[in-house]
Amino acid sequence: MKILITGGAGFIGSHVVRLFVTKYPEYQIFNLDKLTYAGNLENLKDIEDQPNYTFIKGDIVDEAFMNEIFQENQFDAVIHLAAESHVDRSITDPMAFVKTNVIGTCNLLNAARETWKGNYSKHLFYHVSTDEVYGTLGETGMFTEETKYDPHSPYSASKASSDHFVRAYYDTYGILVKVSNCSNNYGPNHFPEKLIPLAINNIQNMKPVPVYGKGENVRDWLFVKDHATAIDAVFHKGKVGETYNIGGVNEWKNIDLIRLLCDTMDEKLGREKGTSQKLITFVTDRAGHDLRYAIDSSKIMNELGWKPSVTFEEGLAKTVDWYLENPEWLKHVTSGAYQHYYEEQYNR
Ligand code: NAD
Ligand code: DAU
Repeated sequence: MKILITGGAGFIGSHVVRLFVTKYPEYQIFNLDKLTYAGNLENLKDIEDQPNYTFIKGDIVDEAFMNEIFQENQFDAVIHLAAESHVDRSITDPMAFVKTNVIGTCNLLNAARETWKGNYSKHLFYHVSTDEVYGTLGETGMFTEETKYDPHSPYSASKASSDHFVRAYYDTYGILVKVSNCSNNYGPNHFPEKLIPLAINNIQNMKPVPVYGKGENVRDWLFVKDHATAIDAVFHKGKVGETYNIGGVNEWKNIDLIRLLCDTMDEKLGREKGTSQKLITFVTDRAGHDLRYAIDSSKIMNELGWKPSVTFEEGLAKTVDWYLENPEWLKHVTSGAYQHYYEEQYNR
């Protein structure tokens, strides 16, 4: 089977690519990525020479190129993760999100529609999405697959739009699709603009750790490798045309999470307890900041037998260890050196 994974050089995509390349040597895995600031081929150093792995540099907004690679490679299935993913960036540059997340997704759907015509039943388009499409919760309740869409940020609006297009292509043209909506991921290879890796980096360097507003917002955290196994489960066992929510049943107020991270790092760095908490700095809140996310994952757990492999404390400890053991990765990301890896390794 030939599988196109988009966004495979990013945080979650790289874990999905690695899982599929190593677990399914009989599959041919094609990783298509534009290598934006968030794409880092150093994430995949360990598997880049595997015979069942191919990297294609390309932009999903480039309609002609998408048609060309579909025609040329005749993919059997797509797992679509490529996206602009950072909420704060979507507030300053919403159109970048419209282009990649909406138009880019539609370009892939159109290329699939054209290339798979007459043979839709043998192909699959799996769209990886976010719980942010559901908007925000109050103090109680959880997002289920039936929760009404109510996106608030340009990022979540663009992801909601792409989800709708994917389902519309199923209803209108009969392309077989699956969608999953996942909560906040954390773990190795997370770009240090997002809360947890940014805080790890700053704590390590004794820099202020910015907490938006009062830190009262709640997120539901899932270890990234568990998201990858959930994607594997949905891809292979999920029902066509259906949606699966994915989450770790693991809600944390931002401020409590940051305090736990500070204490974990004090211990690992041999610092006196309380040292890192002094770095916490409350800053202006994010515009339109959703109060609380919490995912009801009972459908994927009960129907597909998936469950997270680690508790949050275990996952967070593994994550901190990974960042402390991989200073080169963080150094290359913060210096920008990672952006030359493609030219150095692939395009000599
Ligand atoms: P990321 O920003 O780390 O990676 C995105 C990848 O997509 C990068 O490699 C980037 O180079 C690539 N990309 C961006 N624009 C592209 C374009 N126009 N053409 C081709 N490639 C392009 O993102 P992530 O956190 O790994 O998220 C991956 C997917 O999972 C996204 O669709 C996101 O919406 C979704 N998601 C993320 C989370 C999370 O917590 N990070 C949770 C739920 C769902
Ligand atoms: O819920 C899934 C989503 O989780 C994904 O779809 C997004 O791609 C992903 O980026 C993530 O979005 P969030 O906005 O929740 O993640 P972020 O790490 O940016 O922020 C997490 C929380 O921490 C949020 O409430 C905002 C807050 N925050 C964030 C940053 C970067 C801070 O308090 N300080 C910060 O410096």
